[in-house]
Amino acid sequence: MKKIAIFASGTGSNFDALVAAIERGELAASVELLVCDRRSAKVLEKAKAKGIPTLLFSGKEYASKAEYEAMIVEALHEHQVEWIVLAGYMRLLGETLLNAYPNRIINIHPSLLPAYKGKDAVGQALAAGERVVGVSIHYVDAGMDTGELIAQESINLTGRENKEEVMEMVHHVEHQLYPKTLAKLFAASAS
Ligand code: GRF
Repeated sequence: MKKIAIFASGTGSNFDALVAAIERGELAASVELLVCDRRSAKVLEKAKAKGIPTLLFSGKEYASKAEYEAMIVEALHEHQVEWIVLAGYMRLLGETLLNAYPNRIINIHPSLLPAYKGKDAVGQALAAGERVVGVSIHYVDAGMDTGELIAQESINLTGRENKEEVMEMVHHVEHQLYPKTLAKLFAASAS
């Protein structure tokens, strides 16, 4: 059973999918902490409803990334967190977090990386006329969506879907692929 922290700053549909997979016994993990940097994020209510402790912070209140990440690492250690799972956390990670959890930080991104890194990846893919979109799960490094790939799944489009429909298809794949991939990864990792 791995102790994880989920970092999320948005709606939290992936947070929900991970918690649901844990509850169904499909992912051998426990969510010890939600780390969030946006007071209005819906994911905060979702965590509270599940009784999961939350750490809400504002980056602006710290002099540097190193400073707020040191505060986060302290909280992660207090909660004995072993793995960090990013699910819509919109900040690049710095050395402090990366060095505290080497090869133990995972992210999900709504494109077939290395294509369409960064914000609005689905919008970028559609603007480029792509007929195949997808989801990637990867280790996190200091770059934006650049770490080593772990899993990918593609989605074929007819070209007639609007962006909202494509987003829905992408989320549907994310909600299956993220728990499934983490379950395999955790099962394969001794520590
Ligand atoms: C997901 O599309 C994920 O791939 C990206 O951020 C989005 C988070 O969505 N990194 P949600 O908050 O889990 O609904």
